[in-house]
Amino acid sequence: MHCFRKVTEDLYWVGASDRRIELFENIFPLSDGVSYNSYLLMDEKTVLFDAADYAVGRQFLENVQAVLNGRTLDYLVVNHMEPDHCAMIEDLVLRYPEVQIIGNAKTFPMISQFFSFDLEGRTITVKEGDTFSSGKHTLHFVMAPMVHWPEAMMTYDETDKVLFSADAFGTFKALNGNIFNDEVDFDRDWLDEARRYYTNIVGKYGMQVQNVLKKAASLDIRMLCPLHGPIWRTDLDYIIGKYDTWSRYEPEVKGVMIAYASMYGNTENMADVFAAMLAEEGVKDIRMHNISKTHVSELIADSFKYSHIVLAAPTYNNGIYPLMDNYLEDMKALALQNRTVAVLGNGTWAPQSTKLITAKVAEMKNMTLLDTSVTIKSSLKDAQLEELKSVSRQIAEEVL
Ligand code: FEO
Repeated sequence: MHCFRKVTEDLYWVGASDRRIELFENIFPLSDGVSYNSYLLMDEKTVLFDAADYAVGRQFLENVQAVLNGRTLDYLVVNHMEPDHCAMIEDLVLRYPEVQIIGNAKTFPMISQFFSFDLEGRTITVKEGDTFSSGKHTLHFVMAPMVHWPEAMMTYDETDKVLFSADAFGTFKALNGNIFNDEVDFDRDWLDEARRYYTNIVGKYGMQVQNVLKKAASLDIRMLCPLHGPIWRTDLDYIIGKYDTWSRYEPEVKGVMIAYASMYGNTENMADVFAAMLAEEGVKDIRMHNISKTHVSELIADSFKYSHIVLAAPTYNNGIYPLMDNYLEDMKALALQNRTVAVLGNGTWAPQSTKLITAKVAEMKNMTLLDTSVTIKSSLKDAQLEELKSVSRQIAEEVL
């Protein structure tokens, strides 16, 4: 049975949610699934904005067919060629052989890479600022390279002032019947997953996101239709503001994230003592993560959220504890910057972790390393409590 919703007078959400998926991109754990949004405009000509993932293909095709209600699909706009949105293109072409595909110069080579059907005679290539009329609606194309693939673009419906924003403003989590931001409590139920989605998927491309935000600022946007998660029809400044903060690599909150690795509990004990010291100093927003139990995507999301990061880890094979090393590499790959970092190390016979973690953080852009760091040998002793307190005081002064 079809399952679609009306978005505006002429526009329908024809996407679907996957709640069986374990790993997005086969990397990121999803406890609440993900939605693949697709939108169908019923104008003088029918226009579909993006397709969907194979996993929801049956539901998606039923939705499209039901909304078309006997009409054919005239145009498919491909804003993004990642297979979570493009996988069903060939099936659409088989069902609607007359469909014309609208994309940019980078879209069509990708279609030919992913599929084998003949594109001859069915492509309309658009570039920045081009417009296309489907009848009552005028579509205006906005290139969004590297948000988050090179061919990514957005389509602005000038008539209804709707921006089809591709991955931008999207989030993990399946939709639960409610598809609009004003039908859910986004701050309570969605923000953490939106942050985890943005920072891990698009986080590296802050400059490109800033460029797109500048272009968006020149448009009169009443509705944001992303490819994942709720449609924004109220309070657009809220999500645009979050994207602005994240893409400028500015922290969202003044607070402390403590990410620790611990093999036998001694580094964990130091992290706990340190957190208690911060609390004694009056710091309220403290988030601790045992990095062996927390997926690196959550560590990244909180690294983007907090202003201060405390890294604590033992020495391992004369190097950095592997999970800490992986987290640091991910931080670097995603271009995290503008954070204040303190390092707490441990080692039983040749403690190296403080020095090695510090060196790795120093390779990242605009990171402030506190010049006081603490290295313990095997376990924390009374003699080093004052050292630890001094770091906590320094952080508390900055945070409060
Ligand atoms: Fe949701 Fe970049 O694909």
